[in-house]
Amino acid sequence: MKAIRIHEFGGPEVLKYEEAPQPSPEVDEVVIKVHASGVNPIDLKIRAGLAQKKFPVHLPLIPGWDVSGEIEEVGGDIINFRKGDEVYSRPDPTRDGTYAEYVAVKANQINLKPKSIDHVKAAAVPLAGLTAWQALFDHGELEEGQKVLIHGATGGVGSYAVQLAKWKGAYVIGTTSAKNIDFLMDLGADAAVDYNNENFENKVKGVDLVIDLIGGDTQKRSLKIIKNGGRLITTVAPQYKELAKEKNIHLESFMAQSDPEDLEQIAALIDQGKLKPKVEKVMHLKDAVKAHELLENGSVKGKIVLEVI
Ligand SMILES: NC(=O)c1ccc[n+]([C@@H]2O[C@H](COP(=O)([O-])OP(=O)(O)OC[C@H]3O[C@@H](n4cnc5c(N)ncnc54)[C@H](OP(=O)(O)O)[C@@H]3O)[C@@H](O)[C@H]2O)c1
Repeated sequence: MKAIRIHEFGGPEVLKYEEAPQPSPEVDEVVIKVHASGVNPIDLKIRAGLAQKKFPVHLPLIPGWDVSGEIEEVGGDIINFRKGDEVYSRPDPTRDGTYAEYVAVKANQINLKPKSIDHVKAAAVPLAGLTAWQALFDHGELEEGQKVLIHGATGGVGSYAVQLAKWKGAYVIGTTSAKNIDFLMDLGADAAVDYNNENFENKVKGVDLVIDLIGGDTQKRSLKIIKNGGRLITTVAPQYKELAKEKNIHLESFMAQSDPEDLEQIAALIDQGKLKPKVEKVMHLKDAVKAHELLENGSVKGKIVLEVI
């Protein structure tokens, strides 16, 4: 099959479009014929060799851990899926991924894809959608009527987090750059802060929850605007746990899990028209180098997706 593989860690240029062995399913797996693969920051970190502690991988490796496609083959123990089912998934990031014509995935990590959207849009959902869902609801414990600030609100995860927080009935403020403010308001945000030209702590106060997709100084300054007893949930390093404790703020970092129940609820919201995947750029699989360069430059609204078939 055709795939993108890396034979060494490095910059985008290590991504090679080439022939690779087609996978066969273990008894508890399915092989998915990939229609489209989402591109995520973790792909860049693993490609660069910067994620070996959390996600140890062996080379050569097929990157990409976001897929929409149809089942080509099922393992011997699989009774709940069959050939031809249209599914989406966030597979295990420590094994060969989705920048390929076929990928083998554990059957407990896949779901039927939302029916109302095509494979390109569906491939933009699992990793970022699950992260947003689990940040807001599992770790953030967001409730109707609360105030939430989302940093990085127009990126892959942020564009889902803004919509999901609004769906829950929260008051939503997002940080982004000036060029993306209209996009942020279209996602449903109640207020926006241009992080290059404004200090969010001068505009925002009394927040119940901060979703931090940025880290560093942004995380530290966020502690000034959270209510006593509030929460800061981050997808990056939790650098200011001591400071948070002094202020009686719950600061937690987490790794999103491939949870089929969450993916099912996300699919239902999409099919009800309440959640819309935002895909800014669709490229062919063989243009993975350009896709990584684009995401690395940080100017993408929503998601980049690689079309495979
Ligand atoms: N722990 C987990 O399970 C998990 C899961 C998914 C992602 N992540 C991590 O979470 C982070 C975000 O992921 P993503 O997929 O959303 O990335 P992304 O699509 O690259 O989005 C990041 C966004 O942040 C914005 N931004 C940059 N600097 C900012 C600042 N100082 N303040 C506010 N916004 C800023 C950029 O917008 P502009 O273009 O407007 O600058 C960009 O749209 C990444 O580090 C990723 O690795 C972790």
